[in-house]
Amino acid sequence: MPRQEHRVIFLVGFMGAGKTSVGRMLAEQLQWRFVDLDDLVVAREGRSVAQIFEEAGESGFRSRESAALQQLLTELRSSGNAVVALGGGALSQPENQAAVERSGFLRIFLDAPVEELFRRCASQDLARPLRKDLSSFRELYLSRLPGYSSGAMHADTTGRSVAQVCDEVRSLLERGKLGVKETD
Ligand code: S3P
Repeated sequence: MPRQEHRVIFLVGFMGAGKTSVGRMLAEQLQWRFVDLDDLVVAREGRSVAQIFEEAGESGFRSRESAALQQLLTELRSSGNAVVALGGGALSQPENQAAVERSGFLRIFLDAPVEELFRRCASQDLARPLRKDLSSFRELYLSRLPGYSSGAMHADTTGRSVAQVCDEVRSLLERGKLGVKETD
């Protein structure tokens, strides 16, 4: 039986990394719950991410994101069996990074070249207030890279389908001898 902290997988990475689509499919394969931190913020607030940014600014969004994450971490300590997609900026706040590290839950960093991430965001019908031009997008990505990488297993998503990335994540989990199986 895997330890409790191995019953929660956090998917981290920049906008466009595929955290939500991979998380959804992975959770289905493992028969675990899928949680998207952005969705939690939206549900708590009753307004979209773009609206929160517009009405409360980035700092307003960050404080709501932190509160939602704290609540989620508390819930996960007793429930487990969940795949969680964290918003691309959730770990940029030191207190969030520390809380996620303290939880001991697994982290998988989904990555791709920044140009590919930028292109993927353009092809998605989702408002991302922090995706402006490629140069600021790259700068933000580079500033967050250490936070994504720290303590996480790395999965390259370049040119891969969602299903292929799920396979890669599952093989990472198995190679790490973490014993995560849908039947556990
Ligand atoms: C953000 C990423 C978004 C969302 C918000 C801010 C960021 O989530 O939380 O637009 O700061 O990188 P995704 O990474 O799921 O796009």
